[in-house]
Amino acid sequence: MSPFAGSRIVLAVSGGIAAYKAVEICRRLVDAGAHVVPVLTAAAQRFVGEVTFSALASERARLSLFDDDDPIPHVTLGRQADLILVCPATARVIGAYAAGLADDLLSATLLATRARVVVCPAMHTEMWEHPATQDNLRLLAGRGVIVVPPEEGRLAGGDEGAGRLAAPEPILAAAADALAIGDAASSGDMTGLRVLVTAGGTREPIDPVRFVGNRSSGKQGYAVATEAAVRGAKVTLVATVQRPLPASVDLVLVETAEEMRTAVVDRLPADVVIMAAAVADYRPAAPAAEKIKKTGEARTITLEPTPDILAALGRGTGAGILVGFAAETSDVLANARVKLHAKGADLIVVNDVSAPRAGFDHDTNEVALLDSAGGCTTVPLASKRHVARAILDRVVALRAAR
Ligand code: CTP
Repeated sequence: MSPFAGSRIVLAVSGGIAAYKAVEICRRLVDAGAHVVPVLTAAAQRFVGEVTFSALASERARLSLFDDDDPIPHVTLGRQADLILVCPATARVIGAYAAGLADDLLSATLLATRARVVVCPAMHTEMWEHPATQDNLRLLAGRGVIVVPPEEGRLAGGDEGAGRLAAPEPILAAAADALAIGDAASSGDMTGLRVLVTAGGTREPIDPVRFVGNRSSGKQGYAVATEAAVRGAKVTLVATVQRPLPASVDLVLVETAEEMRTAVVDRLPADVVIMAAAVADYRPAAPAAEKIKKTGEARTITLEPTPDILAALGRGTGAGILVGFAAETSDVLANARVKLHAKGADLIVVNDVSAPRAGFDHDTNEVALLDSAGGCTTVPLASKRHVARAILDRVVALRAAR
């Protein structure tokens, strides 16, 4: 499993000759399943053109606080990131970050984030060894910033010494560790809990080659399963799609609502059940055994209701904390509150699937968390992994309140 799968990473590139090595890091992160947004300083662009990063990354390179479609690009980038990787980090960028200066997009994004930050310094030996640089890095490390120290080796201009950017492997390893730690406050807080998660849209066969389905990608459910595993839970994921996953998660692949129901019920009791799957509400009543042939005539397919897995769990016992999802396109909160009570859930994660960049198939999501005691928390547009963290924070709080 790639530790980067589904994560959203801001690759912050500052202006040193090592900027060309950030191109390789960008490509490797994207290959490993990360969504990478490059942010380049003006000096970085003198070493490597924005087009190179835009072509390799998941989004075009971002260059300016002011010439951007988004009026607050630093806030959006900072909020949505799971990780900011400053690579290479020049003495100037390290100094600005330590001092809390926000005079360009890169340094403003560093101040506007609560995500983990990994800094990879690269500079000439004199600058690296200067007490100002060393003091700044100590200050940053004390604030939880992860520093990947430079190596000794050939530097720009033919010099030799300490200050060469670390190799890709230690940089990628530090980035993976930073993602795994997640929010330091929550690491390990689900240790030993049995967590059952569902993900993806069910497929209800019409005939051997066709099905009734929906647009769910399973990304949010996979993010929840991954986060729960990182926080120490023993996770079973019942899913209709296959995506990268930590090896510790027990994956059960199913296709239909009925198969999902059986897989879930067979694995109870659990301490927490999170039904992120988009389960079909109806299925063809009599799927054909052979491929249905084209006749040119109109055709009617009779649909019958599927079992409502969440509602059945809400009426029974053994599901511990029960979390449902609600995909809505209008009267979002009102509809979700009705679902919360009708299904007997402890928490409903509601998303407006018609909102831009939220819901089905996107890497980002924007949700509200409604609980049965009347509480409502909103999670602004962020990566699905970040949303997963917010959901699990509420689950841990609900368990503590019981
Ligand atoms: N769900 C379920 N079994 C079903 C249908 C839905 O367990 N047969 C679960 C989903 O996994 C989700 C929650 O119920 O956690 C709400 O799903 P959603 O599709 O938003 O609502 P529905 O109950 O299907 O209601 P409607 O389609 O009318 O909005």
